[in-house]
Amino acid sequence: MKGCKTAINDNLLNIISPMILKFSTKGIQIGDNLARCYIINKYPSSLEYGWLGKISNVQGVVMINEFIPQSEGVLISALSENIKSNRQKAVSETDDYRKMQAEKRALDGQNILKQIEEKGESIGLMVNIMLVLGNSEEALRKNCERLTNTVIGLGCNVRQIPFFQEDGFISISPYGYTTDIVKELAGRVSLLSTYIGGYFNSSEGFSDDEGYYFAKDINGKLMIMDLWKRNGDRTNSNIVAVGAPGKGKSTAIKKIILNEYMLGTKILIVDPEREYDKIVKDLDGDWINLGGGEKGNINPLEIKPISLDDSEEEKEFDGVGALALHLQNLEVFFSLCLSSITERQKTILNENLIKLYNEFGIYWDTNTSNLTSKDFPIISDLYNTLVKNKELEEDKQTILDYNDLILYIGNLINGQDQFLFNKQTSLFTESKIVCLDTYDLNNSSERIKKAQYFNIISWCWQQMTKDRNEKIMLICDEAYLLIDPEIPQTLIGLRNIAKRCRKYEGSLVVISQSIIDFLDPRIKMYGQALLTLPCYKIFLGSDGKDLQEIVDVFELKQIHKDIIQAGVRGRGLLIIGSKHYIFNMELADYEAKYILGGKGGR
Ligand SMILES: Nc1ncnc2c1ncn2[C@@H]1O[C@H](COP(=O)(O)OP(=O)(O)OP(=O)(O)O)[C@@H](O)[C@H]1O
Ligand SMILES: [Mg+2]
Repeated sequence: MKGCKTAINDNLLNIISPMILKFSTKGIQIGDNLARCYIINKYPSSLEYGWLGKISNVQGVVMINEFIPQSEGVLISALSENIKSNRQKAVSETDDYRKMQAEKRALDGQNILKQIEEKGESIGLMVNIMLVLGNSEEALRKNCERLTNTVIGLGCNVRQIPFFQEDGFISISPYGYTTDIVKELAGRVSLLSTYIGGYFNSSEGFSDDEGYYFAKDINGKLMIMDLWKRNGDRTNSNIVAVGAPGKGKSTAIKKIILNEYMLGTKILIVDPEREYDKIVKDLDGDWINLGGGEKGNINPLEIKPISLDDSEEEKEFDGVGALALHLQNLEVFFSLCLSSITERQKTILNENLIKLYNEFGIYWDTNTSNLTSKDFPIISDLYNTLVKNKELEEDKQTILDYNDLILYIGNLINGQDQFLFNKQTSLFTESKIVCLDTYDLNNSSERIKKAQYFNIISWCWQQMTKDRNEKIMLICDEAYLLIDPEIPQTLIGLRNIAKRCRKYEGSLVVISQSIIDFLDPRIKMYGQALLTLPCYKIFLGSDGKDLQEIVDVFELKQIHKDIIQAGVRGRGLLIIGSKHYIFNMELADYEAKYILGGKGGR
């Protein structure tokens, strides 16, 4: 073949060569197939990522794409000439359309020069040759049509090279040789980035200017994420992580925890599985047992200071004192832990609570923020108040209600849960990372567990709102445990945190194996918001009904569904704002030291 310097044995050549190889201006006959060569001779100023892939995927098309580096000096002076002549044309041209085109070409040229100068980008000649194949005239015609439509659709110009079909064929054959005439016809000055950007595996990836390495994208590029960045579709720093057991949810979040901690974010973790103890202890944080441990008491009767100070909330709670707000909280608390309390009994309990607080010198307008934990009553004080006030009661029915209440409250101070609720608050921590371990709650009844979670979430919100400028992240692992469709207040509380925490530099992280619990019709309006509000969504392996719910709620495409279904540990889908990325989570050695090795998912 002309120009081909490959030393190839004649016999072998006979075996691998097609029976017929004929060139004409109409095209090429290669054995039983017909073919035609095309080149791209014009490109728009910018091309979408993966544009080359789109062309080479057209049916019946073989494509070669070559970048020939050139001496910058020669190309830059050619480019400058080009810019100059287009500028002149733009001034002298009377036709509006041509004038506009010349202006645009001059501007494009200028942009290329800028890229070379400012970013040190390489330039060269880009050559694209396409060979279209078909097993009949008709098939060839159709494939040629598909190719031209695709190329034109990308904003490029494509043309046949009737007199140089043989040169085209040689250049596209695997000899690594492009003939001079093809270089001349198809070569266009281009930036290296345009050439590289043509391939699908060279997506721009995801990178914020600041933050830390979160994972690798599908092409192995590092994804650098700044959780606190705000722009168009990134309006909060909340995360939801969903996936089947053992697929790496907690591991992914631990990686985020470690990196956030290093950047100074305060971390609170609600840990029902006792799997964050290692990382928290290794980072010199506070590990606190909220299932009845010495330092882990939250007195439900301790009134939390009102920290809601933004205008919207000020209006909502205008004129309402700390006591009144706390009584609302207590109604939820007692509904959660006293299974059969009636409406009448709730009213009696409320009256007794007011009397009890008054006995402790706390009235509607008392400023409770100056009080210490010891200044508040505990549940046994409430018990005594109920006993005392029952004695003063004459109405038979009311006495019966008192009896029930005394029984219920008595269980809280005498039964196995007395260590949980009947103590002054001992939960104080100034640590930068705190694990609120709820593992021992697994021995308590569902109701007690839910009531304690309600307490914990209220305590966490109090911490989050203490300082508007301190970045603070609250992680709720196994979050489905917090959900009770009968009494949705804990879920509503979490939903409210998700909505409000961005104003306090807060981030809420919700981790769950399944999203079905969040979508129970009785609580869907809060549960779904909790899942969809976060700007950062992490999906790891799932299948069956869980996967279908994920696809429906988050409106995922087939390709993303496939990735989640494949269920490879550490691989998943990350949604940031409105953008979707397939990621692989790999731990750096120093991260693995902190993250792996403790008790974790199966
Ligand atoms: N990206 C990863 N790199 C290395 N090991 C990993 C990775 N992801 C998970 N693992 C390993 O798999 C185990 C299970 O992961 P993990 O605890 O994060 O799963 P999970 O999704 O939180 O499960 P569960 O729902 O049961 O809590 C971990 O103990 C860890 O050893
Ligand atoms: Mg886990």
